Amino acid sequence: MAVKSDDISRSNGESTPQKRRLRSNADLVMHKSPISSPLKRKSPRRCIDSSPNTPTNGIEKLEKNCKSPVKKKLSNNFSEKPNWNPTDVKQMSAVKEALHLSTAPSSVVCREDEQKRLFDFCKACIEQEKAGSLYVCGCPGTGKSLSMEKVKQRIVDWAKEAGFQSPDVLAMNCTSLAKTSEIFSKMMEKNQPRKKINGSTSPLQHLQRLYSQQQQSSVTKMMLIIADELDYLISKDCGVLHDLFMLTTLPFSKCILIGVANAKDLADRFLPRLKSLNCKPLVITFRAYSKDQILRILQERLMAVPHLVFHPQALELCARKVAAASGDMRKALCVCRSAIEILEAELRESMSNLTSFSTDKAFSQQKTAPACIKTQENDIVRIDHMAVALSKAFRSPIVDTIQSLPQHQQIILCAAVKFFRGGKKDTIVGELNKSYMEICKSTIIPPVGILEFLNMCRVLADQGLLKLGQSRDDKLKRVTLKVDEADITFALQGVRFFRNCLK
Ligand SMILES: Nc1ncnc2c1ncn2[C@@H]1O[C@H](COP(=O)(O)OP(=O)(O)OP(=O)(O)O)[C@@H](O)[C@H]1O
Ligand SMILES: [Mg+2]
Repeated sequence: MAVKSDDISRSNGESTPQKRRLRSNADLVMHKSPISSPLKRKSPRRCIDSSPNTPTNGIEKLEKNCKSPVKKKLSNNFSEKPNWNPTDVKQMSAVKEALHLSTAPSSVVCREDEQKRLFDFCKACIEQEKAGSLYVCGCPGTGKSLSMEKVKQRIVDWAKEAGFQSPDVLAMNCTSLAKTSEIFSKMMEKNQPRKKINGSTSPLQHLQRLYSQQQQSSVTKMMLIIADELDYLISKDCGVLHDLFMLTTLPFSKCILIGVANAKDLADRFLPRLKSLNCKPLVITFRAYSKDQILRILQERLMAVPHLVFHPQALELCARKVAAASGDMRKALCVCRSAIEILEAELRESMSNLTSFSTDKAFSQQKTAPACIKTQENDIVRIDHMAVALSKAFRSPIVDTIQSLPQHQQIILCAAVKFFRGGKKDTIVGELNKSYMEICKSTIIPPVGILEFLNMCRVLADQGLLKLGQSRDDKLKRVTLKVDEADITFALQGVRFFRNCLK
């Protein structure tokens, strides 16, 4: 008899059903292009989600808005741990390992509730010797596979301790099946390894027979089947998916089937018969990680490292941006690793500058000492490294547009950001011109004349970055920013001139 799933969870996860992509690490490799050259290849999802155009995304906002408990904890750690030395190979590899995708963290934080529900479901099936099916869904990188792995270990340990017969465990990634029906031969192998099936019966038929008649419990143990990346079966063979779930509804079934995939409505769309039999699998939705959760997970993973590697605000920026874009932990980890690589490259560059300087001035070596010390002080990953890493990972059309503008148009946007920071919503073109002139003056860049300035404002308005009002006198036209200040700051972070300008 199957464990029925009348209490199907009403998920309010915000994950959009997505076609499962076969992933490889190549997918996650950060682009190596400099900040000023916009990437050509963009996924639509990145374009939509990745702009930091949300109130939660600005770097300046970030600096003001740091009152969460996680933040406090991070700040404490910030002062407690000694700074790392990125030139120490051992320290570097320890950090990279802590953040590596394939490194299973010792504890899976922020998924306690989901893991408990998964565990309780398996526990109930084992205790009652009842079959059942469960469907785990959620966007990529939300900890489904990781949580499943932990629950699998825990349930086997629990069964032993509680005196139940340990279930056979068959965990597989559906993408690795040579053909979809191989899933049934794998089940057969697990269930009755020595049994030879005669040629005319397929493994599926054999399982169907097995679970349709009473068995001695010593012959057939409970079997926990974890089918990860289940959406692969949908694209290949929907029938197999259906047969698989139906096995859990047979009267003497011993299958605890847990399917893991991205699509939220798989059960409704692909398993109508299960629905009509009132045997729809229980659904557990993994929601996208929030900013605080991402921060907590990063912090937890970095606990394995005895040194301080990231400035807390850099980690917070990463968490905020990734949460706003997708809540994908895989992305957050990759961005952090990329930020480390940016720091490494920066250090390499300053070391080589230092070397050439020392060679030139072979007799004035004392002069290089303070520069070395300065390098040491700045060795942790700062917010600007993270901003560059983020901009490589998430490219939005707005950010791309801003980054590819000519320098004077970028200065006009900077001037607008500075002007509107005081709380004003709009001004007139003449005032914006004054703000622009001030920036040029302070940085010794010759300003363009007023006619050219007006022309550039029009170009920016055409691109949807500024809005210009109506007036006969161009200088009296009202002007407002049409993009979020955070987008501009984010786009220009990688250039020191603008970073200083926007401080
Ligand atoms: N709560 C967490 N604590 C620590 N690391 C996590 C956590 N959640 C996710 N990760 C890390 O993020 C990465 C992605 O997690 P996981 O593979 O579990 O995602 P998923 O939901 O299965 O994604 P997909 O749908 O793409 O298969 C892994 O490297 C994992 O270690
Ligand atoms: Mg997974």
